[in-house]
Amino acid sequence: MDDFLDARLARQMREAAVSAVAATRRKAIPGYKRAGAISAYAIARHAPQLAALYRSPVLIDALSRLADVPLLPCPRWDAHAVALYVYTQPGDRVGFHYDRSWYRGARYTALIGLQNDSTSELVCRVHRGARHRAEKELRVATDPGTLVFFQGDKCYHAVSPLGAGETRIVLSLQYVTSTEIGPVARVVSDLKDALTYFGV
Ligand SMILES: [Fe+2]
Repeated sequence: MDDFLDARLARQMREAAVSAVAATRRKAIPGYKRAGAISAYAIARHAPQLAALYRSPVLIDALSRLADVPLLPCPRWDAHAVALYVYTQPGDRVGFHYDRSWYRGARYTALIGLQNDSTSELVCRVHRGARHRAEKELRVATDPGTLVFFQGDKCYHAVSPLGAGETRIVLSLQYVTSTEIGPVARVVSDLKDALTYFGV
């Protein structure tokens, strides 16, 4: 959805994101991903406007209507609940994956473009593995204010490599249909976040 945030709001959110950029942690997994990330904890401290947007009842209601199921924000211990992904180095990218839910319910991802001075795109392979529909590739330039919304375990997606001298910043909002999580799933989720995204 283009222009999900109007130009003024998109600019305000980008300014909030830039004020949190010093908290970026860069992580690389050879052959899979390389990018910077800013956790929900850092956002709460350095960009409270983004944390407020994440928990906005108006936004949650709009996304729940799109999903056709009541959505909830993730608990405050979840470093991934609201995060910024910052692509600044040539070759920064993320390989194909699903946003799997560690919770007992389904997980939905809302990505909002905040800055896109890049040729990098979100690449989605929709209907992958579906029996009666052909797989289709969608490529989305996440320009400021653009919303991409999908159920995490249905949409196989990646971020194509950044070019030289380019910058791309995306806000990621995670919502779930249940905030219940098993103790083992929580440990795995925390470890994965620490090792591959935000550091300890
Ligand atoms: Fe993802």
